[in-house]
Amino acid sequence: MNNVIVSTDPGQLRQMVPAGTKVVLLYDRNVSVWMEQITDPSWITIPLDGGEGLKQWKYVQQVTDRFIEMQIDRSWFLIGMGGGTVCDFAGFIGSVYMRGMMFGFIPTTLLAQVDAALGGKNGIHAGPYKNMIGCTVLPGWVFCYPAVLSTLPAGEFRCGLAECIKHGAIASESYFRFLEEEVFPLKEFKDYSPEILHRLITDSQEIKLGIVEQDLYEKGVRRALNFGHTFGHALAARYPELSHGEAVAKGMAAATFYSVQKGLLSQESVKRLLRAIDSAGLDPELPCTQSDLITYMLHDKKKQGKTLGLVLLRDIGEYVLFNEPVEKWKNTLRNPGVSLGAQWEKNLSLWLEKAPWVEFRLDLMGDISQVGMVALRMQCMGKEKKILLTLPVNPECTEVPDSLREMISWGAGWVDIPVKASPAYKESLSSLARENEAGIIQSVHFWENPSREIPGEATLNELVREAFSTGADYLKIAVYTYSVQQSDKLLAWCDEQNAREGVDYRITVMIMGEDALRTRKHALSQGYPFVYAASGPQNTTAPGQPSFEALMM
Ligand SMILES: NC(=O)c1ccc[n+]([C@@H]2O[C@H](COP(=O)([O-])OP(=O)(O)OC[C@H]3O[C@@H](n4cnc5c(N)ncnc54)[C@H](O)[C@@H]3O)[C@@H](O)[C@H]2O)c1
Repeated sequence: MNNVIVSTDPGQLRQMVPAGTKVVLLYDRNVSVWMEQITDPSWITIPLDGGEGLKQWKYVQQVTDRFIEMQIDRSWFLIGMGGGTVCDFAGFIGSVYMRGMMFGFIPTTLLAQVDAALGGKNGIHAGPYKNMIGCTVLPGWVFCYPAVLSTLPAGEFRCGLAECIKHGAIASESYFRFLEEEVFPLKEFKDYSPEILHRLITDSQEIKLGIVEQDLYEKGVRRALNFGHTFGHALAARYPELSHGEAVAKGMAAATFYSVQKGLLSQESVKRLLRAIDSAGLDPELPCTQSDLITYMLHDKKKQGKTLGLVLLRDIGEYVLFNEPVEKWKNTLRNPGVSLGAQWEKNLSLWLEKAPWVEFRLDLMGDISQVGMVALRMQCMGKEKKILLTLPVNPECTEVPDSLREMISWGAGWVDIPVKASPAYKESLSSLARENEAGIIQSVHFWENPSREIPGEATLNELVREAFSTGADYLKIAVYTYSVQQSDKLLAWCDEQNAREGVDYRITVMIMGEDALRTRKHALSQGYPFVYAASGPQNTTAPGQPSFEALMM
């Protein structure tokens, strides 16, 4: 897009329309003063109420009805003048009215000048769903008159600065430094010199246009422009009181924290980004935990597909496109869980609050009296879906014990069934689980053995086949290992399996013995579906099982 002009000369604007062409100008009422000052008096004008409320179908209909009445046809030139909402709206009408007419923009917010008016994305919302209807058509030109920003409310100006920070963060350390050193120390718009304002706008535009030019239809690199927005949109949906800029600022902060967690970004760079957000007058603090944020993103009704893509940073000025399967994110969020045995009475309430799920090892919980059962039930109320019920049985067993039956009926989250249980037992427990909408984990344990051997690949592969062909949602393989090499071999196998189409992070290998802590940290980082922890160092339910605290460190 070569036709992006930043100019202090309104005469230049009037020359942007081919001589003799009729013009219809859709403008935001809030910029009437500027409309009168810089546009051509011969242009036909239609005022609009700018803001998100404008981007609705009924207003498209109203405006196009007016166009028809006024006998506007494709030979006319349409101009949208206002913030991003007016540009998105006018661009949409310009793209679809009579199958498309010539159009241009006069963006009047900083956000629209550096972002929304550039790049050809036009559209409206579908009810509550943002930007659901639209198209990608580039405007003929964009004319920016920087003085219009003098009437922009300070909060709206800050929203624009958030996009400038985004551009610097993903693509240009020198622009980022310019913001830090020359822009952010200026407290009010009147402090901006024409030169600073010009550079603030043009350098930011250059970054956006450079990316759009490579990838107009967002097949690849253009996704980088979503830095902070994927998190930001989730925040805005959850906290509607946040403005776009405030949500993006927090979203950028969240994305940098993830960048550190993924080992991509240094703490120093995170501090720099947070400082920049703060000195632009925006607040980087998150109103919720990072896990909650990912949960909102995964529940986004617009979200489709099997992967969740994020834009992270490797450095200030360098982005990384990061894609992870949705299942892996889900697993990461609900780990580690806590396994309870004999000490359940002391600990249950605490862990039902604190851990994402709690395993009841029924074989280790002892005989629970009728009264004990009622007490247990009371403690679980409202938390039933967090309960994982495990009862190891030998292959001869065919009947599901009453206690297990009863607990499933409470509405447990998951039931653990031994892979090697008898077909009758598996069938009966599986159908009980399904009736009660509990997930099914099939499990197998390879305990410490005199020959110090671990199962080979053929055995493991056969377990996968057996478990998933007999109704398992997940497979847990617990193995006692005697060396780091043995553990690593099993983890490598599990990583490979989980990444396979159709398996999708449904297998968990839990190492028992001395290597348990290290390998469970690997399981956490690789998104294994269930990572087990003990409630404390003395309360393990499997050899070497690390405590919840140790795993969280
Ligand atoms: N198409 C894209 O690529 C793209 C990119 C980013 C954002 N957007 C869209 O942009 C929209 C947000 O844009 P925005 O922040 O400019 O919002 P906006 O259009 O709502 O403008 C913000 C407020 O400022 C007022 N205003 C505009 N210019 C003014 C001026 N010069 N003086 C005084 N008041 C003025 C408006 O009336 C409005 O109340 C969102 O709908 C978003 O989806 C689109």
